[in-house]
Amino acid sequence: MNEIYAIRKPIEVEMDELSMMFQEALYSTNPLLERVLSHIRKRTGKMMRPMLLLLMAKRFGVVTRKTLHAALSLEMLHTASLVHDDVVDESEERRGMPSVNAVFNNKLSVLSGDYLLSTALLHASLTGDVNIIAMISHLGRQLADGEILQLSNIDSEELSEEVYFQIIRKKTGALFEVCAQAGVLSVSGSVQEMEWARSFGEIIGVVFQIKDDIFDYSPNTAIGKPTGNDMREGKLTLPVLHVLLETHDEKMLALAGKVKAGNATDEEIVQLVNFTKQNGGIAYAVGVMQREVERAHQLLEQYPDDEIRASLAAYIDYVVAREK
Ligand code: IPE
Ligand code: IPE
Ligand code: MG
Ligand code: MG
Repeated sequence: MNEIYAIRKPIEVEMDELSMMFQEALYSTNPLLERVLSHIRKRTGKMMRPMLLLLMAKRFGVVTRKTLHAALSLEMLHTASLVHDDVVDESEERRGMPSVNAVFNNKLSVLSGDYLLSTALLHASLTGDVNIIAMISHLGRQLADGEILQLSNIDSEELSEEVYFQIIRKKTGALFEVCAQAGVLSVSGSVQEMEWARSFGEIIGVVFQIKDDIFDYSPNTAIGKPTGNDMREGKLTLPVLHVLLETHDEKMLALAGKVKAGNATDEEIVQLVNFTKQNGGIAYAVGVMQREVERAHQLLEQYPDDEIRASLAAYIDYVVAREK
């Protein structure tokens, strides 16, 4: 938690305000919908996306209502995508609690997710900035596009790190990119500042998803969501992809085919996971993260060494070091 404190330090007041606004945006007079919203209100996430947005705004200007509505909109869009994602991934746990689909059902999750998504767009509109609205609307399409690309990839026989990166740039990276850019837009930053923020957000997003995918190989229950779920859903992520492409082990390639086809047994999944670990798959993914993180730190050097830079540096390190 200390790492989060280091990140939040220059934006503490704004984050408190944002958390309040976020909670207030999650109410309904419809009793059933309100039960879902109250479940979601119980445990908010790490708020990585609004923190990035606020830090970028502060990097280049002064946080305004526009900044806060943009941050709220993007955290809401993220929340909506999680509610839908847990239906798609048939996942029963989120943030250390049963997921919405586990407590209620898929139908209510889809509809509540739609409600959250529309609430996100409402707050985008409250920025009054047509560029931010366009950016967030476009993002919604990218996220869905990425998730659908992931679905097609499960059905494809090809194993490719390149396609993996394409998917994670869309389904996760794009959100961090837009957060970074919307922060800059909200304080009327320059084109150059926008491009800098975009590059920074892109790196963070990719590292964020690689780290998340590594969690899936861990037996740790403190992560707050199920592990081993990716392979159960037919998803082969960076560690296993790398090892398969490197070793060309026929037995394991056959197993990977079964995972993709959705007919691997639990024992077979364990075998593939162990093979991945024993052949340095996790270490490889950690190495990729470290290289990217280095690039992010280098980007920071373009602007003054002040408390915002220190906070962004802590942010980068946290994305890799985090335990949930
Ligand atoms: C989870 O994101 C979805 C991914 C992109 C991996 P977070 O890990 O930021 O989720 P919360 O909001 O903190 O729960
Ligand atoms: C993350 O996908 C991107 C989203 C759209 C939520 P995952 O399926 O890996 O995320 P988790 O692991 O369920 O949080
Ligand atoms: Mg998921
Ligand atoms: Mg995951």
